[in-house]
Amino acid sequence: MLEIKNLHAKIAGEETEILRGVDLTVPTGEVHAIMGPNGSGKSTLAYILAGKDDYEVTQGDILWNGKSIMEMSPDERAAEGIFLAFQYPIEIPGVATMTFLRTAVNSIRKKRGTEELTTPAFMRFVKEKAGDLGISMDMLKRPLNVGFSGGEKKRMEVLQMSMLEPTMCVLDETDSGLDIDAIKIVAEGANKMRSPDRSMLVITHYQRLLDFIVPDKVHVLAHGKIQRSGDKNLALELEKSGYAEFGEKAA
Ligand SMILES: Nc1ncnc2c1ncn2[C@@H]1O[C@H](COP(=O)(O)OP(=O)(O)O)[C@@H](O)[C@H]1O
Ligand SMILES: [Mg+2]
Repeated sequence: MLEIKNLHAKIAGEETEILRGVDLTVPTGEVHAIMGPNGSGKSTLAYILAGKDDYEVTQGDILWNGKSIMEMSPDERAAEGIFLAFQYPIEIPGVATMTFLRTAVNSIRKKRGTEELTTPAFMRFVKEKAGDLGISMDMLKRPLNVGFSGGEKKRMEVLQMSMLEPTMCVLDETDSGLDIDAIKIVAEGANKMRSPDRSMLVITHYQRLLDFIVPDKVHVLAHGKIQRSGDKNLALELEKSGYAEFGEKAA
């Protein structure tokens, strides 16, 4: 279970608070969506969960299965099962995607105390997961994300997620820049990972993705706080009304 308690945060070195008292609980096994206008702090929240050090938490706490993660490094958080799929995935020139994936998978397995995968076992694993997402072996030989289209980058993020088998998945705007077929592939990948012992936080500006990843709960983030929570119908309502009632111009 993820518990975010009265979280206040800002960019390191800046004055203005972006998050001003976020309270949010995602029980184990549930999928929650965070919606909100552009600039409301959705990505900030995602980065803070992952432990990115450009941000400073000034108040509050984040508990993962009852334990505070505030003092943990991004690597330690990953080892605890927390995974963030970025809105803007990073490119790593010079490192073949396959090599990157193998290193990531084995380092997580090591930290979790499971055995590293042998080369044949890894190849079987990556082929199966990549096949599900329509990612070719040729693409895996190319440097990570370099020259990948928006859709290919998003599918790569979901591939990483499905191979790292996290227990807390944070998907930040996994739908942006995707055509409808790519959204379906990505959503199917995420849906396959739904499980009673895994939680997901799906961050999106538009309701569209939530037609495919149907959330248990929807929360609206605006002005640095969760302003409203509801079931999936709240997303449909927002699609009609925009974010005007939260003092923002309609999407
Ligand atoms: N690196 C940064 N430097 C300065 N301001 C930033 C930075 N990242 C985000 N912000 C500001 O913080 C606010 C929240 O941004 P963000 O979390 O990206 O919102 P969202 O993901 O909801 O669109 C915005 O006002 C944005 O301009
Ligand atoms: Mg964002």
